[in-house]
This record gives sequence, C-alpha cells and structure tokens, in this order.
Amino acid sequence: MSIFILGIESSCDDTSAAVINETRILSNFTANQDVHKTYGGVVPELASRAHQQNIIPVIEHALKHAKIRKNQLNAVAFTNGPGLLGSLLVGASFAKAFAMGLNIPLLEVDHIQAHILAHFIQPATGDKDIPDFPFLCLLISGGHTQIVIVKDHFDMEVIGRTIDDAAGEAFDKSAKILGLPYPGGPLIDKYSKQGDPKKFPFPHPSIKELDFSFSGLKTSILYFLRDKMKDDPGFIEQNKFDLCASIQSTIVDILMHKVENAVKKTGIKQVAIAGGVSANSGLRKALLNKQKSAGWKVFIPDFEYCTDNAAMIAITGYFKFLDHNFSDQKSSPYSRNIRS
Ligand code: KG4
Ligand code: ZN
Repeated sequence: MSIFILGIESSCDDTSAAVINETRILSNFTANQDVHKTYGGVVPELASRAHQQNIIPVIEHALKHAKIRKNQLNAVAFTNGPGLLGSLLVGASFAKAFAMGLNIPLLEVDHIQAHILAHFIQPATGDKDIPDFPFLCLLISGGHTQIVIVKDHFDMEVIGRTIDDAAGEAFDKSAKILGLPYPGGPLIDKYSKQGDPKKFPFPHPSIKELDFSFSGLKTSILYFLRDKMKDDPGFIEQNKFDLCASIQSTIVDILMHKVENAVKKTGIKQVAIAGGVSANSGLRKALLNKQKSAGWKVFIPDFEYCTDNAAMIAITGYFKFLDHNFSDQKSSPYSRNIRS
C-alpha cells in the first residue's frame, strides 16, 4: 500500500499544508502573514486569527495540487509544538477534526525534529542525496539554535544550544537596529552581497564548549551605531551594505566555529543545516567551502524547506506512521522546546 500523508504546520506565522507520498513530496503550500510587518515582529493574537482564515484554503490548495482526494489520505500529521500556543491550537484542532471525520490516524510532530527531518524529503521527480546516520545538524531558526547529533529519525542528542538569543533573532534584532523591517534576516542577506564583510569588525563571544550566545553582538552593534550616529546621522544609510555584510559574516563565523568544534569533538563529518537561517547565503557558502577544504559532506536544504513549511511535518509524520507512533484526540500543543 502506498502511504499518503497530509502535513499541517501552524506554529508561528506561516500557515502551511503539504501532501507526501511516503518520502516523495506531492505539494507544499504556505500562506505568509504580512499583517505582522507593521509591528516589527509576530503578534500572537493576529497570527492565530490569520491561521483561522488561511487554514482551509491552504489545505484545499495542497490536496488539489497533489491530485489527492481526502479519502485517499492514510493519516494527518500536525505540528504540536514548540511554538505560539494560539497558532498551534488552530492547526491541532483542524487536524483532529479532519482525522476524526475521515477516520484516519493522527500524528503529532515536533517542529524542531521536523526541521531536521526535512533532509529526507525527496523531490517530485528524481532522487536527492540524504544523510546517513549519525550526522550533525546545525538547527538555526527564529526561535532555536542547536547543534544536534542525529542518530536515527527520532533519536537526537542536543550537544550545543544558545544561552540567549537564537541565530534568527540575532539577524532580526540587528536588522531592527539598522531600521530594516521584520523579519530582517533575508534583507541582511540581500544587502550583504553588496558590502564588505571586513569593514566593521564586531566581537565574537567566548562561550564554553558548543554553546552559543548572540546577545553581546546585538549590544555591541547598538553601542557602535549610537556613537557613530552622534557624529553623522546618515551613517547607517551610507554604510548599510557594509554594516549588513559585517553583521552577517560575524554571525556566520560564530556558527561555523562551533560546528567545526562539534565535528572535532564527535568525529562526525556529515554536517546538515536546518531552519530559517539555513537559507542564508553566507552560511551556505562557508559550509560548501568547508566541504572542499576539510572533506566534510554537507547537506543544505532547498530554500522551500529552510523556513517553516508543512512538507517537513508530513515527512516526520511518515516516519512516525512507519513506527505506528500515533496520537490520540487528547494530545495538546506545547509552547516550549521539550528536547533541549
Ligand atoms: O524556521 P523559521 O522559518 O521559523 C522559526 O521556526 O523560527 O525561521 C525564521 C528565521 C527568522 O529569524 C528569519 O530572519 C531567518 O529565519 N531567516 C534568515 C534568512 N531567511 C530567513 N536569516 C538569515 N538569512 C536568511 N536568508
Ligand atoms: Zn521553524
């Protein structure tokens, strides 16, 4: 029997639905919520409401594009956490009702595990290289920064984590200081391409072992710009590209330094990246250079699987389906990370 799974993601501000046929993706649709742009960050109450409006059209679209009827689905997978509770509740409630109506199993999925397992999604046609176990994964998103040893689909050990801001927050908060709109990560990436990464050297934190810290960087950017702007109010505008390039290269260096240490410590040379920040072009380049110079085998996700998406929920649901690891109607979403 060929297995078809519907995946639903609604943990933050993206409403997404995907259909997977075992590991092969059939459709993956995301409705972004522009409403938060004006506020400089995600407003939880507005996110829940937008999910409520988007969820049915997004799911209908995903099913239609996959050319799958509801009664062909074998299970429904949904994000159960971590994330914004009101947002999660929209996806979870929908998934429960949908599974009950179709009398098919429910699969609850951890958002962080799903970002990592996105590496196992196969494209609609052709075959993609997937990592062997064990591999290292640098998980970097707006809410999380971890180095994980992935020993099996559901056997993951976190060996490094941030003690304050996540890497995505470091990008977004730095962008905010520069006056860029939310989320600033992609804009810093874009402007960096025209700037000099060595123009403004920002300090690197010295944090033990494999842990990260990004709050010092934010403070040093803030003080640096405050002083510069006193003498020249046009400083940010005139140096926007060099500032972005310098900030990006500092964050990428911090991440790469810890990953290098993790490879040394574990002896594992297969390195994957996952989460929104894995879309960053500076980081992708640094990893590919390392593949050449240090013999690493690197796994870089396609752009559509870097930021939040339901394809990663569907693939994780598929592996749970194989393990008969089903959920019941009593499962309830959690807001905090349960694995770090
Ligand atoms: O994984 P994700 O979509 O949501 C969470 O689970 O948090 O990650 C969103 C984060 C944001 O902080 C955003 O600024 C960052 O990923 N991001 C980037 C880039 N694209 C998205 N950061 C740097 N460079 C990018 N190209
Ligand atoms: Zn995410």
